[in-house]
Amino acid sequence: MASRGGFSSKAGFIAAAAGSAVGLGNIWGFPYEVGAGGGAIFVLVYLFFCFVLCFPVMITEIAIGRKSGRNAVGAFNALGHKKWNFVGKIGVLSGILILSFYNVIAGWAFGYTFQLGSGNFAVADNFTAFTSNVFEVGTYGMLFMIATAFIVSKGISGGIEKAAKILLPTLIFMILGLVIYSLFLPNAMSGLKFYLLPDFSKFSFNVVFNAMGQAFFSLSLGMGALITYGSYVGKNDNIVSSAALITLADVGIAFIAGMMIFPFIGYISNGELTGVGGGPELIFVTLPQIFGSIGGVTGSILGASFFALLCFAALTSTVSLLEVPVSYLVDEYKLTRTKAAWLMAGIVYVIGIPSLVGNGYSEYFTEFIQYFNAETKTNFLSFVVNLANDSFLPLGGCLIVFFAAHIWKKENIDAEISIGAPNYEKSFVKKYLSIALPYLVPILLATIFIMTVLVTFFGVDF
Ligand code: PFF
Repeated sequence: MASRGGFSSKAGFIAAAAGSAVGLGNIWGFPYEVGAGGGAIFVLVYLFFCFVLCFPVMITEIAIGRKSGRNAVGAFNALGHKKWNFVGKIGVLSGILILSFYNVIAGWAFGYTFQLGSGNFAVADNFTAFTSNVFEVGTYGMLFMIATAFIVSKGISGGIEKAAKILLPTLIFMILGLVIYSLFLPNAMSGLKFYLLPDFSKFSFNVVFNAMGQAFFSLSLGMGALITYGSYVGKNDNIVSSAALITLADVGIAFIAGMMIFPFIGYISNGELTGVGGGPELIFVTLPQIFGSIGGVTGSILGASFFALLCFAALTSTVSLLEVPVSYLVDEYKLTRTKAAWLMAGIVYVIGIPSLVGNGYSEYFTEFIQYFNAETKTNFLSFVVNLANDSFLPLGGCLIVFFAAHIWKKENIDAEISIGAPNYEKSFVKKYLSIALPYLVPILLATIFIMTVLVTFFGVDF
């Protein structure tokens, strides 16, 4: 263990894992999904799934990681089930694919920080012109990847943990500042009402389905990121309380992000808020226009703060995405951490180029694929999102939990969780996991996986 490094304390692990969880998914994805899913009703369903579906998966990933002391692939070997290490390989591949596009979006946010900071609100009027300027946005993306590789190369306690301990509190501080500002805008309350008062007539199968997927992605589950981080956790730390705190931090920050964004939207829509625009527009077009309408130095400061905040949130997530393949290379191929970090960052950057150029610059990658029964074409970036986030993560999560409950066996999970958690034996959590892990969670995750494939790629209508 000593040669692999480790977190310096339970708090260090929680900060790093919460940093992985809190990212674009919370500040951009969550408000957008709430808007598309009819407001508060989505929030309720989302909260339910975080605890019912995701919490057990998180505990399982951390327990597998800590018991094995290895990366996402090596963990299966170390537990004596080499045949199952394909699950870890899907995880490493997912990490690489997700990072490849996630970094492109983080690069946009980085670029917007400068643009809005210097008062150029017009950048939002033609978002495609911004993303098509691939040399500029490619440079922002490259700087972001360099920052990620630098942190990962510095190791677990000296790099990942240290960065999270600085970035996470800064992010919370900035987000609270923006919430306070937005709450005082005219018509802020209409936004909050949409966000917080559930309209049960909007409840639908789609809401349930999207809330499950969003919760899963937001908590960084299904690709072994938490197996990897779990492998650096001390034996005396309490896995159950750590997982609870990570989940609460993630849900809490997503919730506060909504408290910031919906008042802004209420303000711009003059109180007549019925829904929220989707895709990149919400963050990269609508919000900057709001900052622009506030204008002047205040608008610039608000805009630059918002995008800096998005960068901070994204950075602790990109670090965890890169750590999955890096720790695989370090453990299994004996590369030094520094070499592995820079090599992998370079490879992922190159894999991300089609996502970078597929937003207006290259027609081929912008109109990359037409799914069955789809009316429009999907660009390369969205294709990778559909493949890795929407399909591989639930599949990976399903296989990890199935493996843990049926192959590695529940007694072994319980034994690992009990170390550092003296009350676990008699707890409700233990009873719940004995139903959730073998049956409930794999069935729900298999359902999300199958439905995603059918709905997204084959245009099946439910
Ligand atoms: N949880 C991150 C977010 O919400 O933006 C994304 C993510 C990071 C997913 C790390 C998966 C992962 F392993």
